[in-house]
This record gives sequence, C-alpha cells and structure tokens, in this order.
Amino acid sequence: MGTLLVTGGAGFIGSNFVHHVIGNTDHSVIVLDKLTYAGNAASLAGLPEDRVRLVEGDIADATLVDDLFGQVDAVVHYAAESHNDNSLHDPRPFLDTNIVGTYTLLEAARKHDRRFHHISTDEVYGDLELDDPARFTENTPYNPSSPYSSTKAGSDLLVRAWVRSFGVKATISNCSNNYGPYQHVEKFIPRQITNVLRGIRPKLYGKGENVRDWIHADDHSSAVLTILDKGVIGETYLIGADGEKDNKTVVELILSITGQPADAYDHVTDRPGHDMRYAIDSTKLRTELGWTPRYQDFEAGLKATIDWYRDNEAWWTPAKDGVEAFYASKGQ
Ligand code: NAD
Ligand code: DAU
Repeated sequence: MGTLLVTGGAGFIGSNFVHHVIGNTDHSVIVLDKLTYAGNAASLAGLPEDRVRLVEGDIADATLVDDLFGQVDAVVHYAAESHNDNSLHDPRPFLDTNIVGTYTLLEAARKHDRRFHHISTDEVYGDLELDDPARFTENTPYNPSSPYSSTKAGSDLLVRAWVRSFGVKATISNCSNNYGPYQHVEKFIPRQITNVLRGIRPKLYGKGENVRDWIHADDHSSAVLTILDKGVIGETYLIGADGEKDNKTVVELILSITGQPADAYDHVTDRPGHDMRYAIDSTKLRTELGWTPRYQDFEAGLKATIDWYRDNEAWWTPAKDGVEAFYASKGQ
C-alpha cells in the first residue's frame, strides 16, 4: 500500500485510472491537475475522500511539484494538452505542458528518487498505410505528425534521457485510442454520441477511412498498474487491445446502437495532416508482464459508453455548445 501522485487525474484517462486504483488496490491518490477546459473535478465525484485528494495546480510549477513529490511513493504522469485539432490552432500550451511540464516532473523525480511512469501515445510513431501489414512496436522509429504528437514524442525522449543520464526510475507506455466514460465531448466518440443524443448529425472528417486502434480506458488503467508493478526501469511498453476500426464503421455502429439510420451523418472538412492509421502490437506487454485486456468486444464497450453519456448529461452539457460552435467555425 502506498500513495500515488496522478498528474492529469481529473482528465479522461487519468480519472478512469483513479477510479480503477481505488476499486482494485489499497493505494491512496493525490491528483495534481490544472483543471484546464479538459479537466473536471466532477469526474472524481463519489470517490472516498480519505483516499483521494485533488490539488489544483500546474505540473510546470516546480515549487508545488517538489512539495507533492515529497508526499508520495510513485508518480503516474497523465497531464497533457491532448487534442490534435487544438494543437493545429494554438500549439503553445502543448509545449508548455507536454515539454516543460514533463521536464519539471522529471527534475522532481530525480531529486526525490521516486518511481515515475510516463503516459504517452502511439501517435509518436506517425501513421501507417491502410494496407500495411505492420503494426507499431517498441522498435518503430519516432515520426510524429502534429504539434500534439511531436510534443508527446519530445516528452518521451526527455524521460529516456533522465533515465540514462540521471538514473531516474522511469518507465514509458504508448497507448492507442481510448474510449469510455468521462471523455471530453471534443473527441471523436463522445462528440458523435452526444450529437446523436442532441439530435445533431455525427460529423465525419473526410471520407472516414482513417483507422484508430480502440481500447477501453479501464484496460489502459490495468496495463499501467501492471507496468508500475512489474515493468523494467528504462523500458517502453506499447498498450493496445487489437481494436482497429475505421471512423466510418464507428459512426455507423453508434447510429445503429442508438436506433438511427446508418447513413444519418455528415462528411465535414478533414483535419490537416490527418494520420491515416494507428495499430499497436502489444506482444511485449502481454508476454513479458502477463497483461491482457478485459474489454474484448468493442460493440459491447461502445454500448456501455453510450449508456454512460445518456445517464450523465449534466457532466457533458456545459462543454457541448462551445465545442460545437468551435468546430462549426472551422467547417467541421
Ligand atoms: P485529457 O485532455 O482528457 O486530460 C488531460 C488532463 O490534464 C486534464 O484534466 C487537464 O486539466 C490536465 N492538465 C493539462 N495541462 C496541465 C498542467 N499544465 N498541469 C496539470 N494538469 C494539466 O487527456 P486524456 O485523453 O485523458 O489523455 C491523458 C494522457 O494520456 C495524455 O498524456 C495523452 O497524451 C495520453 N494518451 C491519450 C490517449 C487517448 O486516446 N485519449 C491515448 C494514448 C495516450
Ligand atoms: O492514438 C492516441 C491518441 O488518440 C491520443 O494520443 C490523443 O490524445 C487522442 O485525442 C486521440 O487522438 P486522435 O486524433 O486519434 O483522436 P480524435 O478523437 O480527435 O479523433 C479520432 C479520429 O476521428 C481521427 O481520425 C479524427 C476523426 N474525427 C474526429 C472528430 C473530433 C472525425 O472524423 N470527426 C470528429 O468530429
């Protein structure tokens, strides 16, 4: 039993991780979150106050970070600016948080000699062709496409350098696209679900051929706990659940589950530099650390996610109109 510092724990995947830790371990958690537009304290509602404490603050605030590292046994670093579309309109916050923020945490991990796990993305590897038989592995060269993915790539390289140069006890994971509860309505799946719930037609970028490799956020959490427990210091682990689907198929599934006609969606302006396909080979994590995902049936997981958005309208309503107005201003 110990205390974990979870950065970005009021965001989508971080809050899913905090729920998973409280439900499956004896650990306590301190969440450090700036509560940007993407963070929401309501995502931690109902968790036991004697085991979860939310500290509002910036991971780039060295004084605050130093104080918090002194109170915990290990750190799991989720905090980031995470949305590709936003990074194309205003890259600066991505540099501040993803690069300078990660640097600030690494310096504290070095000073306090704390176990550090860095959460990253498959997007650091760039994209694959639709017909490429290959998937990403831990040996795939970095080739990021967007301001978002290039800052995530930069943060991964900082972690590797702090392990090698300063002996920081860190591991890295690069995960594929997550879905599940508590995801901001700016992102693809919740945007389309909440559009349908509001009577708005889903919006597909371009032809909808782009492929993402979907994993339930709860499976991402179990993988991260496995790496914290059994991962080898300095190693990178890819996390994925063999969930490749093109965007058109996902929109059609949402429409079918919600009883709408399969073609009741609009094609809108594509994202500049839009990565075509991501695909993860998670053999290393499965064979070396013994992890397996629990959500093997994407349609069942998607149905449960749709039910969650239907039952938690108060959680997403405040952000919805602003997000749709922003997309509309960009022709999306
Ligand atoms: P999110 O945008 O939902 O949440 C990010 C959280 O970080 C928010 O709560 C926000 O308030 C907080 N934050 C932002 N800047 C901060 C700062 N300077 N200091 C403290 N807190 C700050 O993102 P997400 O989708 O949950 O992604 C979490 C992590 O997982 C990111 O590192 C992302 O790169 C990675 N990741 C995401 C996916 C995905 O499919 N969403 C897949 C693989 C990896
Ligand atoms: O691969 C992991 C990454 O997955 C994470 O690192 C990112 O933080 C996370 O945001 C996600 O990035 P994507 O760009 O793949 O996710 P997004 O939800 O923005 O888009 C998923 C796909 O859907 C992508 O091909 C673009 C498309 N799309 C998106 C939106 C918002 C649409 O067709 N319509 C939309 O309205």
